[in-house]
Amino acid sequence: MYCCMLSRSFHIKRNKLIQLTRASFSQNPQSWDTSSKLFSRTTYRCTHSPVSGSLWQPLTHRTHQPAASSCCMSSTVHRRRLPSAFPVIDGELHPVHRHVYEANLRNSLICQQKYLEHKEKIMKGGGENAIARHTLRNRKVLVRDRLRMLLDDEDYLELSPFAGLGLPYGDIPSAGCLTGIGKINGLWCVFIANDATVKGGTAYPITVKKQLRAQVVAMQNRLPSVYLVDSGGAFLPLQSEIFPDSNHGGRTFFNEAVMSAMKIPQVAVVCGSCTAGGAYVPTMSEEAVIVHRIGTIFLGGPPLVKAATGEEVSPEDLGGARLHSEVSGCVDHFAAAEIEAYECTRNIISTLNYELPEEDSTQAEEPLYNVDDLMGLAPHCYNHSMDVRLIVSRLTDGSRFQEFKARYGTPLLTGFARIEGHQVGIVANNGELTYEASLKGSHFVQLCDQRDIPLIFLQNTAPEPAHTFSQTKAESNTNRLKAQGSMMSAVACASVPKITVVIGGCHGGESYAMCGRAFDPNFLFLWPNARVSILAPGHSDTFVQTEEEITQINEMLEEESSAFFSTGRLWDDGVILPQDTRKVLSKCLKIIKQQEYQMSREKMRTPLLRL
Ligand code: COA
Repeated sequence: MYCCMLSRSFHIKRNKLIQLTRASFSQNPQSWDTSSKLFSRTTYRCTHSPVSGSLWQPLTHRTHQPAASSCCMSSTVHRRRLPSAFPVIDGELHPVHRHVYEANLRNSLICQQKYLEHKEKIMKGGGENAIARHTLRNRKVLVRDRLRMLLDDEDYLELSPFAGLGLPYGDIPSAGCLTGIGKINGLWCVFIANDATVKGGTAYPITVKKQLRAQVVAMQNRLPSVYLVDSGGAFLPLQSEIFPDSNHGGRTFFNEAVMSAMKIPQVAVVCGSCTAGGAYVPTMSEEAVIVHRIGTIFLGGPPLVKAATGEEVSPEDLGGARLHSEVSGCVDHFAAAEIEAYECTRNIISTLNYELPEEDSTQAEEPLYNVDDLMGLAPHCYNHSMDVRLIVSRLTDGSRFQEFKARYGTPLLTGFARIEGHQVGIVANNGELTYEASLKGSHFVQLCDQRDIPLIFLQNTAPEPAHTFSQTKAESNTNRLKAQGSMMSAVACASVPKITVVIGGCHGGESYAMCGRAFDPNFLFLWPNARVSILAPGHSDTFVQTEEEITQINEMLEEESSAFFSTGRLWDDGVILPQDTRKVLSKCLKIIKQQEYQMSREKMRTPLLRL
């Protein structure tokens, strides 16, 4: 009966899946029947999500107790991981690498500088005047300080911090809204926090996109979510790009309902204005807190009331904390000050009835090679990139890697490793995705799916499609096309969590097979040296005719392929520095794993309704 409910399902095992540069030159389930598996596991199914096509959603949690049971996962089952001693991968840098390494390093330093400049820009929010208005006149706490009060610590994963920079309608720092995943009382939660210093926290198109992406992250990884609402609603001059379409503002509220029905708890803190559309965020959350004197909720503010009825009314009387906590019931908790609101929210999170995973006392092995070397390994030019094993050896525990099909389809590297104790399958480009490489990729992805092992894609794809100059070449390209198609199918349908890091190029069809954004990885990050475009700059000459056209297209590709152009438009979850990759991956794996400890094994059919 249980199996009938599943279209495709898999399980994540509950047991443990669980600096600048010192160049070290040569000193150096697909299981259709879950009932046969014992113990508690997370079971997922592929549904056509209203959010973004197909999402893998946990269907139910099982223990070896009746399926209908919805009790907590209180029975702690201690299990041991199979011992492994994967071989140590050779990550030594040799003199022969020096030339490419140094060229990469020069490029990485320039990219890192740009990264730091972007960081500085976003830390200023809406600028000095807006900060003064927010803190001195409006007596509100700045958004990053709010997060400090809400979260356990500052060790959170901020998503797409540079989104909103370099857009046709200007620089919108952090897209006017901070999103990410941080711990509240030890539990990873998504946060979506407006920054009212950026045009009163109003929603630009990029703000809406960022909020929706955070909700998708919450759904895909089943994370409780907290909204810190301080927004003047839609940024009116761009209303046509915010309101009417399916993935515009209204989707936020649609998602809130769907998330609640999926049993993803959502809490809102009204710590500023919640005007017009923004008013629905707290009213559709499962629990809401409002801060006295600064929190207001109304569809139309005092000026609108005056225009319509001639009546003068204060924001507080129209939709303040007292009104909504004592009269309308739109919110559930009254907080006299902001600090109290975040304490209250932390207490609400404690009522979610989650159980935290046991602390793992075993210390993961650090890579044998210096992670700072990654700056010189980050490919600048596709033609001169080094063996991707050098990168893998700086990411995995003890630089260990159990390679799969080492002698076949060598332009693709596949194999098993651990990252801070979490077992993963790694798929990394080591050249063009040939016919054999694609077949190998399909095989390996399916293998990981069978074994419930999360996949890490290290993407550096070919800068242009394979050319067809002869019949033999045409045949070989057709075979490659078919094999790449198979790999795309394997990746699209693999029900295990997937994380993609673009370490070099993200171009054309090969990028799909390497789990690009359209293939719904749980997280996708770019290194600052990454280039994202259909074909790389300098490779358009076979597609356009005149010198002038070639120059024009190449200039366009040069500008548009930059990692910062890409992340500004929110085509990824953020730019990360190469030397931070292991930490970020480890954090993502812990976040993904949390869903195994969720309270409920039953899917609720309706969202919580505020009646
Ligand atoms: N669209 C575009 N810009 C807006 C805006 C909106 N809906 N709401 C505010 N802004 C801009 C203001 O013009 C101002 O711009 P500036 O910094 O270039 O001068 C900035 O945001 C801050 O607004 P301000 O009113 O000076 O700050 P505040 O802290 O006193 O108030 C709000 C902030 C959001 C409470 C208040 O501006 C407001 O009520 N706005 C209207 C909200 C509304 O009716 N929304 C309906 C949308 S459908």
